[in-house]
Amino acid sequence: MQIYIEKDYSQLSKRAARIIADEINEKPDIVLGLATGSTPIGTYNELVRMHREEGLDFSQVITFNLDEYYGIAPSNKQSYHYYMQHHLFDHINISSENVHIPDGKTKEVEEYCLMYDEEIKKYGGIDFQLLGVGENGHIGFNEPDGELKVLTHLSKLSESTIKANSRFFNSQNEVPDKAITMGLGSIMQSKKIMLLASGYSKASIIAKILTEGKTTTSIPASSLLLHNCVTVILDEEAACLYKSVSTRRGNSRDLQITRNSGFEKGGSNVITYKECQSGHSL
Ligand code: F6R
Repeated sequence: MQIYIEKDYSQLSKRAARIIADEINEKPDIVLGLATGSTPIGTYNELVRMHREEGLDFSQVITFNLDEYYGIAPSNKQSYHYYMQHHLFDHINISSENVHIPDGKTKEVEEYCLMYDEEIKKYGGIDFQLLGVGENGHIGFNEPDGELKVLTHLSKLSESTIKANSRFFNSQNEVPDKAITMGLGSIMQSKKIMLLASGYSKASIIAKILTEGKTTTSIPASSLLLHNCVTVILDEEAACLYKSVSTRRGNSRDLQITRNSGFEKGGSNVITYKECQSGHSL
């Protein structure tokens, strides 16, 4: 696992977009797994800039979104369909038949979810999955629970997620209480994963995931510790609790910390926890 600690949200977004752009340049027909929410907006803005100013080419890129609210039509401004069009797809040269987002209006939920996973398989699986993380440790809409579903499914949103997401709606009552989401297995089968976290509200969950060294279904994002090619990009606010713990622990266990000069001045900290087994260090 490779962990970057960037000075702020803008640097985090630039780092994330650069990594995605490098992946696209290396494999123009890459299958990207995409997330919504506040965190990746800066990354999408930066990818749009790279498309406009540097000719980053999305013409062969395939995308699969993690999730969509259930019961919401694509034209609804709160839908993740709308979000993706607005923040990314309307501004790049991706072809619409290469874009996949769960259909929040499907009536045949079980069949639909199976079909979504089949479709991912048809393209050879996800090459690179972008993730945000909920304050309660959810990824996609895989909420903390006694057990976690492996495949794409209809998920019931937790109270804390409904509360957190109410900022995008007029009131908490308007937030859908269900969503179609890729399951933990679908996410973990991605060849590479990149998790972004920004702001103090994520500091506590990030410190827990990265320092306790164990996986638990009560923190779905902790499953990422089992994946062999994960990059985590944090800003200093999201890393503030983790930094103090990792500094205390120093180089104990298999944690390797490389401090790039200039961290105080806004450079980045690169912490290599475990090299990707593929030998490709993101
Ligand atoms: C969105 C998604 C969610 C968000 C998470 C964090 O597609 O899958 O898991 O990544 O809720 O959301 P923000 O970025 O708004 O804090």
